[in-house]
Amino acid sequence: MKLLEGKKGIIFGALDEQSIAWITAIRAVEEGAEIVLSNTAMAVRMGKVTELAKQLNTEVIPADATDVKDLEKVFEKAQEILGGKLDFVLHSIGMSPNVRKGKPYDDLNYTFMNQTLDISALSFHKMMHVAKKMDAINEWGSIVGLTYIAAQRIYAGYDDMADAKSLLESIARSFGYVYGRDKNVRVNTISQSPTVTKAGSGVKGLTQLADFAAKMSPLGNASAEDCANYALTLFSDLTRKITMQNLFNDGGFSSMGMSDIVSDEILAEMKPETDN
Ligand SMILES: NC(=O)c1ccc[n+]([C@@H]2O[C@H](COP(=O)([O-])OP(=O)(O)OC[C@H]3O[C@@H](n4cnc5c(N)ncnc54)[C@H](O)[C@@H]3O)[C@@H](O)[C@H]2O)c1
Repeated sequence: MKLLEGKKGIIFGALDEQSIAWITAIRAVEEGAEIVLSNTAMAVRMGKVTELAKQLNTEVIPADATDVKDLEKVFEKAQEILGGKLDFVLHSIGMSPNVRKGKPYDDLNYTFMNQTLDISALSFHKMMHVAKKMDAINEWGSIVGLTYIAAQRIYAGYDDMADAKSLLESIARSFGYVYGRDKNVRVNTISQSPTVTKAGSGVKGLTQLADFAAKMSPLGNASAEDCANYALTLFSDLTRKITMQNLFNDGGFSSMGMSDIVSDEILAEMKPETDN
């Protein structure tokens, strides 16, 4: 469709083929965009993002998204490589050392928790702070972060990532106001279905969560590709007045209370007891 013809952007967070950012990068280029990639120096060394950059005929700029100086380099270099200001940015970054180490919510390590909030939420603020200060984004540009419904409701095992996602969504609203008011730049979050990726697999019970969500959602779970496609519409000119929103890409899950499938399963489990 060439939805992004003539647009330039930065995609943060492509680690491997399963990453939502990886698929978004490929789809953005297919839609006519020019992009650069960014991930941590460690991910660049150990991961496959350099392969993706070769495949897409672009470059990876290593950066720790919690480090403002690193982010300044990314926005400076991206504009150099792409030859001008940017039109879109994808923040596809999340990590909780507490989740990784299986620390329960009532026994969190606070050093880890600060890292969770910094990596998964404050980095979104830092990114926009840097971009706005450098005036790196064109008018009607679009910034998208990725989130999960655990920001609003409890999903056992999501731990301090739930707090980070609440903060991320709040930052999207707060910065969306300021960036919209001053520069006509949009800021939104996409709240995505459980998806099998490196970050997703860190969450205890992801398989059960994905299975439950699929049974509850009339359209089934949204895949990483569905998420990439939704992000592209938000980068495009078709959504110029959408900002400060948390947008669900979840097959209808967020509006459900009970589905026929789950109800029937519970009934089937109860039957032996009733029969006795
Ligand atoms: N997978 C899911 O079920 C799911 C559901 C809803 C939302 N999300 C969100 O989608 C986003 C992308 O995750 P994913 O599922 O594609 O997993 P992923 O593991 O492929 O991506 C996470 C990325 O964050 C990067 N990262 C970690 N620390 C960083 C730092 N300090 N600086 C820069 N980058 C850093 C990693 O290197 C990795 O590339 C995350 O925000 C995640 O929370 C995922």
